[in-house]
Amino acid sequence: MASVTFDKATRLYPGGDKPAVDQLELEIEDGEFLVLVGPSGCGKSTSLRMLAGLEDVNGGAIRIGDRDVTHLPPKDRDIAMVFQNYALYPHMTVADNMGFALKIAGEDKATIRRKVEEAAKMLDLTQYLDRKPKALSGGQRQRVAMGRAIVRKPQVFLMDEPLSNLDAKLRVSTRTQIAALQRDLGITTVYVTHDQVEAMTMGDRVAVLKDGLLQQVDTPRNMYDRPANLFVAGFIGSPAMNLVEVPITDGGVKFGDSVVPVSREALSAAADAGDKTVTVGVRPEHFDIGETGGLTITVNVVEELGADGYVYGSKDGQDIVVRVGGRQVPEKGSSLHVVPRAGEMHVFSTSTGARLSD
Ligand SMILES: Nc1ncnc2c1ncn2[C@@H]1O[C@H](COP(=O)(O)OP(=O)(O)OP(=O)(O)O)[C@@H](O)[C@H]1O
Ligand SMILES: [Mg+2]
Repeated sequence: MASVTFDKATRLYPGGDKPAVDQLELEIEDGEFLVLVGPSGCGKSTSLRMLAGLEDVNGGAIRIGDRDVTHLPPKDRDIAMVFQNYALYPHMTVADNMGFALKIAGEDKATIRRKVEEAAKMLDLTQYLDRKPKALSGGQRQRVAMGRAIVRKPQVFLMDEPLSNLDAKLRVSTRTQIAALQRDLGITTVYVTHDQVEAMTMGDRVAVLKDGLLQQVDTPRNMYDRPANLFVAGFIGSPAMNLVEVPITDGGVKFGDSVVPVSREALSAAADAGDKTVTVGVRPEHFDIGETGGLTITVNVVEELGADGYVYGSKDGQDIVVRVGGRQVPEKGSSLHVVPRAGEMHVFSTSTGARLSD
């Protein structure tokens, strides 16, 4: 087991005009499950492939434990990677697929068999060891790919969207299994996904990337409670945080017909940047609904989920999502006065996107 360090690691693809991964700084603890998340093209796979040694590093360094692996070939890094397409050998049995790396490494047959059987037991694959991959379901193939990584007992697991070929229900159960397995094995894991729900449910910590730049790295809880900028605020959470540009007034901001207090520090930071507005963020569950005042929205769609419901409303082209109790669902077409609950409003700079509130 080992820690992993990206030390200003940069990847500029030949012919590119800006780096696909730009001075990535990330320290992953020994045994930690870190999830890299972000929209398509933000540099997740490139980061993982740099750590695997499948992509050149053009600046900075990468360390596993205290070994500088920046220029080591993949086979000398003691890592195992699980790819999106699993890359199983179709002509080999499950057992041979799982034991292949050990065979290449020159381990004896009995040892290979023992390690494969151990992993198969963990993954519930024992009864499939003699089958070929084509005779397995998608979920079983996914587990074989995991098994192939596990038998090697590497220092680090790398996984690039390993669940994207599974249907929605299987994805949910498999993500729990992977997280539990990782906890049992205690092997440092870097896991890539574009799905923020997967990131938030699986990771000890989550790192959000955008355009090759690290936006924030934090525990799921902190990421949700205190997003560092407008991008993270809008990306993490489902339904997404409401982001509304509002005018600054004395001691606060004007939210519809109400004045919502904002800290002096946040307001002066906005004023220093020459801004007349800030962008406030309010999660759907953090609105108070009143009889008057606040922002008056028209209810367009109501989503009833039983225990609670989501109201999709709008005001002058600004969409607003509000969570309501399951028994207090308003009528479609009605009006609702909403105001951010005290202490639950996030404040961001409209011009830079940076977080201004505590
Ligand atoms: N071999 C390559 N040569 C040139 N550019 C590349 C190469 N591979 C990736 N890129 C570019 O680098 C950027 C990052 O790509 P990367 O594959 O890391 O994104 P990603 O975050 O994994 O996206 P996705 O969620 O779609 O898999 C993209 O703009 C992509 O077009
Ligand atoms: Mg990718």
